[in-house]
Amino acid sequence: MKKNNPIGIFDSGVGGSSIWQEIHKHLPHEHTIYLADSKNAPYGNKSAEEITALSIKNTQKLLDFGAKLIVVACNTATTNAIATLRQNYNIPIIGIEPAIKPAALKTISKSIGILATKGTLSSALFSATAREFTKDISVVEIIGEGLVPLIEEGNLDGPEIISLLKKHTKPMLEANIDYLVLGCSHYPYIIPQLRKILPENVTIIDSGEAVARQTRTVLQSLDLLREENTQPKLQFYTNSKTDTLKFLLKKYSANIVVEYCDF
Ligand code: SIN
Repeated sequence: MKKNNPIGIFDSGVGGSSIWQEIHKHLPHEHTIYLADSKNAPYGNKSAEEITALSIKNTQKLLDFGAKLIVVACNTATTNAIATLRQNYNIPIIGIEPAIKPAALKTISKSIGILATKGTLSSALFSATAREFTKDISVVEIIGEGLVPLIEEGNLDGPEIISLLKKHTKPMLEANIDYLVLGCSHYPYIIPQLRKILPENVTIIDSGEAVARQTRTVLQSLDLLREENTQPKLQFYTNSKTDTLKFLLKKYSANIVVEYCDF
């Protein structure tokens, strides 16, 4: 694998672009290719077999583009498919898991909330992580039903999202949580909306920065970091409408181009 090859990143849709932003911030010289499988979003209510088949399809496409490392920027795909991907492909593959450990270590109220998809919360990988780190604290797990489709539409500021967030966080606030773990890569885009309804003492944690740091560590350890300091090529593809991804990324940089691609 060549140092100059791109980092490949995929998600069930637009949400993983929040992870891409962290990766680009930490590795500004790396070429990147982002695939948004929005045609098949959301993954959250699909079976583990369907999620695995979609993850293999996305990985294959990124390998066709010459990816030197793959980031599965989707919690649902990571928790359901990463073991199979690692068995099938001889390439470094990094996943994203809910940041349960830091929340469990820092909570003072001994109560944390986790907002994620059904697919993530019901996976064996999630249960094993939760069991390991939350023995002496209470954990309120809530399925973020309805959130991913609204984010995929770019409907971030409407009353629907606020009313869903109020409903989803109510049992958490009743349980006196002081940490809210975002277990879906789409959710960082609704942190401003969550901030409006959560008390100040509740800290929101997502996993984007940890994934970016891990990506840098792995590339470094394999001597795969790009050495050239010239402008990197940043490619974004979606197999659905380009509008939402454009809208979300425009806030990050005005120069980003999003293209349609059938995969
Ligand atoms: C989904 O496609 O349902 C959400 C993606 C994620 O879990 O990060």
